[in-house]
Amino acid sequence: MVFDKDTIEEIKRMYGLPCYVFDESAFCLNYNHLLSAMRSRYPKYEIAYSYKTNYAPAICSIVKKMGGYAEVVSDMEHDIAEKIGYQCKHIIYNGPFKGHKLKTHLLNDGIVNIDNLEEVDRIIAIAEQYKKELKLGIRVNIQVGQSFVSRFGIDIDSSDICEAVNRINKCIYTKLVGLHCHIGRSRGLDAWKSRTIQILKLADQYIKDIPEYLDLGSGMFGDIAPDMLEQFSTNIPSYEDYAEVTALIVNDHYKSVPKEKKPVLFTEPGTTLDNRYIDLIAQIHSIKTIKNKDLAILNCSVHNLGDVSGSVKLPIKVIENSVIRSDYQQIDLVGYTCLERDVPYQDFSGKLGKDDYVVFGNVGGYSNVDKPPFILPQCAMIGVCDRKTYLIKRKETTDDILDTYIL
Ligand SMILES: Cc1ncc(COP(=O)(O)O)c(C=O)c1O
Repeated sequence: MVFDKDTIEEIKRMYGLPCYVFDESAFCLNYNHLLSAMRSRYPKYEIAYSYKTNYAPAICSIVKKMGGYAEVVSDMEHDIAEKIGYQCKHIIYNGPFKGHKLKTHLLNDGIVNIDNLEEVDRIIAIAEQYKKELKLGIRVNIQVGQSFVSRFGIDIDSSDICEAVNRINKCIYTKLVGLHCHIGRSRGLDAWKSRTIQILKLADQYIKDIPEYLDLGSGMFGDIAPDMLEQFSTNIPSYEDYAEVTALIVNDHYKSVPKEKKPVLFTEPGTTLDNRYIDLIAQIHSIKTIKNKDLAILNCSVHNLGDVSGSVKLPIKVIENSVIRSDYQQIDLVGYTCLERDVPYQDFSGKLGKDDYVVFGNVGGYSNVDKPPFILPQCAMIGVCDRKTYLIKRKETTDDILDTYIL
């Protein structure tokens, strides 16, 4: 978003700084762009929003209103989805550490992707106890050209996959109806094509009828701010490019299957959807020089900015608010914590002064959900829609932090 000084001062007065600002309209446009790129090639495509990346209920509710599913990996995330009104049949429960909610989720026709053989047995025991037919998916562990071996899912290159399928088929109450995969750090088109082709082959091999769903996880580049593009050595694919190597191939594979029997195709975008649409407005608290290195101390820390701030340089805008400003060459913008590594932005060159505002872009994913109560509580998050602001999360207080301790 573009902020001027007056808008920032109004936000500061109403909510305090730092403050996250969610751009609702741009998020919705991006959501619809992904949806239409995929649906125009395979109409039975659905988005399942990845809660772990940002489970702010306001954002999850917007996804729900737009018809998206919830993708959760813990009982806590499942609770959030239920609290905002999801029924289990629209919640995908993934991950290696499913809690006790798995049982009610299954008994209420929730979607589950199994991570390991012990989970197969756990689910079969539930099915037998309640004598209820449970439809299941398996997360398959595949290689799509990545340089590491993922620790998630069931290995398709060992006997485990046959063992899992056999155990599910042997139980009269359980039925394998879907497959899931997600491979981190593999955002290129080749990797997506590979996961599509492999999951189709595995579905043909292991699922008796036409599958009810195929879930390709996520890990797209998403919509990237122009000032970040230069940091990537590869061309950034568009949603249409991704749809060509996923939705179109799935469409072709099931072209002779009647519409009502075609599988639902899911992806599970998180950062893909939310990264670009949250900014953090921070402020320079003080400026000093140590052994010729200039340092500007911010009122935020790397913990506010999310995982991605460690691997890429976030786009920033400095908004003048200081009467005395100087020209700096390679000044580090450092965080408020006592960690030496807390440097939200290295080597900024330009005019800067104490009290100037710094807006960090691209902090939608793994930011507010990943902020520990370390040194200071979390700041507020607001949304902006039609130029009006609304509160998404109030600023935390010391009492919020102390609430779970015994005083
Ligand atoms: C299983 C699963 N689905 C979806 C996502 C979200 O992917 P992205 O944030 O790249 O859209 C993740 C992220 O790690 C994941 O582990």
